[in-house]
Amino acid sequence: MKLNVNGKVAVITGGSRGLGLNCAEVLVKNGAKSVYITSRKQQAVNESVEFLKGVAKQYNPSCKVVGIASDVSNGEGVKKFAQQVASQEDKVDILIANAGASWGAPLMKHPESAFDKVMDLNVKGVFLTIQAFYPLLKKAGTVDYSSRVLIMGSITGIKPDAMDGGTYGYTASKAGVMHLGKCLALELGPQNINVNLLAPGFFPTKMSNGLLEKIGDTFVQNNPKKRLGRQEDIESVVLFFCAKESDYINGAVIPIDGGAHVGDAPKSSKTVAIILSINDLVISVDVCSPGNVVVRLWRRGRHW
Ligand SMILES: NC(=O)c1ccc[n+]([C@@H]2O[C@H](COP(=O)([O-])OP(=O)(O)OC[C@H]3O[C@@H](n4cnc5c(N)ncnc54)[C@H](OP(=O)(O)O)[C@@H]3O)[C@@H](O)[C@H]2O)c1
Repeated sequence: MKLNVNGKVAVITGGSRGLGLNCAEVLVKNGAKSVYITSRKQQAVNESVEFLKGVAKQYNPSCKVVGIASDVSNGEGVKKFAQQVASQEDKVDILIANAGASWGAPLMKHPESAFDKVMDLNVKGVFLTIQAFYPLLKKAGTVDYSSRVLIMGSITGIKPDAMDGGTYGYTASKAGVMHLGKCLALELGPQNINVNLLAPGFFPTKMSNGLLEKIGDTFVQNNPKKRLGRQEDIESVVLFFCAKESDYINGAVIPIDGGAHVGDAPKSSKTVAIILSINDLVISVDVCSPGNVVVRLWRRGRHW
């Protein structure tokens, strides 16, 4: 089965870099008719459009790539963006509400303005974006292919201890927007518009780089897949959720995190008791994983 989005019109907020650009790239590569991206900075939008046009030239020469600079954290910016898309398209098949921001500060130093900024973009902005594109999404949805809304949530919206560095507003925003998405899936599903939620773990991007520098190694060690997310991890899920093969999936939350939302990988063995220790020769009881206990004979600094 070869998945595709042939002939589809796609819109991606925050498409100028990071995961949003990955989403745009996979749709351009796999048959989209037009791909619209937005972010606040005109120059960044222009550079990403040039990059995506290069991808289109190689994989999908008839694909139209358009960049519109806009701030989607407020009604005015969202409306301006949606109007410009509506002036060029009579329907939108795929909307990826991806633009997001984060802020980390200790509890007693966490500014109200930062909390507001994060909530405005990550929750209110997502709601306003879906609201503004609803008429175009409704025109695209049919019984054979429901139009698609993908909301970029986060593992932090599922697993409270995934929060680090005092990202209070961010964690709350991701839990909130994922709940919002489920409510919209119920309301819009009967109108042939599917709403699904992606919950990435850690992917190296501008947003996550600061945190990764601090806790990246620990995160990789604890992750059941022992690595960070890669571009292809996000791309394959996005392509599936935009292709007609996923038409019956609505209201789903898809963690893309190597299994980190379930828990940490078992630590490598830990000594829980020393039975005998003579000079540097030791017999110990070690736990390798829950329920997996071994007795080991070892010389200090060396195991057998
Ligand atoms: N990277 C991760 O590990 C990770 C994990 C879980 C979830 N996520 C989520 O994935 C999404 C993308 O994150 P990322 O890591 O790719 O972040 P990123 O590299 O910082 O990219 C964010 C994008 O959103 C745009 N943006 C920011 N504020 C905007 C606004 N007010 N209006 C319009 N566009 C705006 C940015 O461009 P401008 O600055 O030019 O506006 C940029 O294109 C976010 O929702 C994030 O919460 C990321």
